[in-house]
Amino acid sequence: MANGKGKLNHQNDSQNGIFSTELSTAIMITSKRGFGSQMNITDKSIEVYAQAYSERSSACVQEIHDWTIDNTDESRMLSGELQAAILRMLVRSIGATRVLEIGMFTGFSALAIAEVLPDHGQLITLDIDEEREKIARSFFDQSPHGSKISIVIGHALETIPSLEPPFDMVYIDADKANYIRYYEAVMPLVSSGGLIVADNVLWSGEVLNPAQDDEDALALAEFNTQIQSDARVSNVLLPVRDGLMVARKT
Ligand SMILES: C[S@@+](CC[C@H](N)C(=O)[O-])C[C@H]1O[C@@H](n2cnc3c(N)ncnc32)[C@H](O)[C@@H]1O
Repeated sequence: MANGKGKLNHQNDSQNGIFSTELSTAIMITSKRGFGSQMNITDKSIEVYAQAYSERSSACVQEIHDWTIDNTDESRMLSGELQAAILRMLVRSIGATRVLEIGMFTGFSALAIAEVLPDHGQLITLDIDEEREKIARSFFDQSPHGSKISIVIGHALETIPSLEPPFDMVYIDADKANYIRYYEAVMPLVSSGGLIVADNVLWSGEVLNPAQDDEDALALAEFNTQIQSDARVSNVLLPVRDGLMVARKT
């Protein structure tokens, strides 16, 4: 396996043999994704500690976070502080200037990313819900970095083909059933060495043993399997919050 990629069920490969054993053990551990779940894989106190020792979001980004908690009943959709710090680190590390986000919500992760783009940088963020545009734009307008953000409303599978490449990074954080389609749609738009980052790929652990009626868990498990066998990328699945897949296009 020159590229370090393996198929999950390849029994003749010693590395994958060990991996299969670990995976079998892991799938015995069950977790339930209850209503209002905080979507944490790591212990909450560990996450709080990690957050305390990571770069904080700006006041503007924190305001979106707090407003979303106070004014919506969907705050579980926020990427969260620790993930915002990771996204900023990734953007800075690759010197990204053009980033695409699929799934804007109230604009928390969009502004967190835009703040570390250079002055000429651009973040295009997609959402299907037109009500969200007004809310997010009102926050972006309060930030000196808001002018780097363009919002495109519509189903992402319909709006992605209209976007002009290249992108240095794509952050996928919309409907889980379409993750594979988003991944394939953006792959040609991502520059060589660019990143495709996908949130919620552990789905509170449900991907380990997806229930046959859980479409999201099944789709995410398939997404992870596809990336793991995709020779076009090198990848790492970070067990941060609800699981973050980072794939680098070679
Ligand atoms: C988890 S939230 C995004 C959270 C955001 N990245 C953040 O950290 O604050 C998912 C968003 O994806 C949007 N969405 C769902 N299906 C979509 C689709 N087919 N095309 C575009 N956006 C979609 C939803 O309207 C929702 O705002």
